[in-house]
Amino acid sequence: MRALVLHEKNRMAIEEVEPVGSPGPGEVRVAMHTVGICASDVHYWTDGKIGPFVVEAPMVLGHEGSGTVVEVGEGVSHLSVGDRVAMEPGVPDPSSRAVREGNYNVDPGVQFWATPPVHGCLTDEVIHPAAYTFALPDSLSYAEGALIEPFSVGMFAATKADIAPGDVAAVVGAGTIGIMTAIAARAGGASTVYISDVLPEKLALLEGMEGIVPVDATTEDLGERVRAETGGWGPQVVFEATGAAPAYKNLWSLPAPGGRIVLVGMPVDPVPFDIATAQSRGISLETVFRYANVYQKAIDLAATDAVDLGRFVSETFSFDDSVGAFERFLEGRPTDVKIQITL
Ligand SMILES: NC(=O)c1ccc[n+]([C@@H]2O[C@H](COP(=O)([O-])OP(=O)(O)OC[C@H]3O[C@@H](n4cnc5c(N)ncnc54)[C@H](O)[C@@H]3O)[C@@H](O)[C@H]2O)c1
Repeated sequence: MRALVLHEKNRMAIEEVEPVGSPGPGEVRVAMHTVGICASDVHYWTDGKIGPFVVEAPMVLGHEGSGTVVEVGEGVSHLSVGDRVAMEPGVPDPSSRAVREGNYNVDPGVQFWATPPVHGCLTDEVIHPAAYTFALPDSLSYAEGALIEPFSVGMFAATKADIAPGDVAAVVGAGTIGIMTAIAARAGGASTVYISDVLPEKLALLEGMEGIVPVDATTEDLGERVRAETGGWGPQVVFEATGAAPAYKNLWSLPAPGGRIVLVGMPVDPVPFDIATAQSRGISLETVFRYANVYQKAIDLAATDAVDLGRFVSETFSFDDSVGAFERFLEGRPTDVKIQITL
């Protein structure tokens, strides 16, 4: 069995690893088909760590995966051999307090693919709990199945935003996460979703999407634009999806009075928070860390005509060229959204 193994910072290779064996009760064995590359995979490769998570032992990369069920463990009734599936990469401890309180994404014991020391899914086969493995409808490709992972972040952000039908939304940042959030917010009831970026090439990818309005942050202020088109009021919901320090400067006054800010981007260093501005405008805040209880909904929504995730696959590499795929990600081409690898 092959796997893309990261040994330490800047040292990764395709290697032979031990076969996964047979699935236990409640588990399935899945032959991987498509895996998307996320910035976190690349960070582990270039930096050997993200915050407190340090690569201290060889680790298989990849957490955005889809594939085909090849073996079903005892007691699994909702999946069969041959099913095309997408896997939720974070598996919490079912007896944890976080699970019991409904917040399994913040279970301290969660086992999340390719977060050290947990192996990821850039390998021929994985064993995964059936409860976190979801059948894909015929209308979704394996590529779209792998995109369900970042789409789930956007779905969770839109869920936390508590969007009311007709709300106007604004998304700061049109990277993968910002785009996924904009799509989820629009499908979740926003009448218009304004989305800004400093890269016009990125915004050009959104042209023609109904209800999504690209705003070039190099020439236009997002807040001013939305206020100008909403009778001076502004967006009821704002999503921060850059994690870039400058983007937080005007964030706290961006929503309409009584509006919400959903913090999706994760700044590397602490950023200032203008509490008094947020208070005087009655702004409420939500944070997003991964997702909980949205994977099936993300699949169901992605299968409707309202959503086309496939258009955001920029390039697909063969597994043998996995390192090339990571190098391509690192190039940071402004027209790239999602780079994927097929096995
Ligand atoms: N909360 C979560 O669970 C979660 C999950 C995944 C990623 N993230 C975070 O979300 C953020 C975005 O991730 P991504 O993969 O989309 O990254 P990305 O680099 O693809 O996208 C970021 C985008 O923001 C744009 N940008 C930068 N500064 C800007 C500014 N001042 N105004 C407008 N746009 C600006 C960039 O041009 C880029 O297109 C990162 O901080 C990442 O760590 C959070």
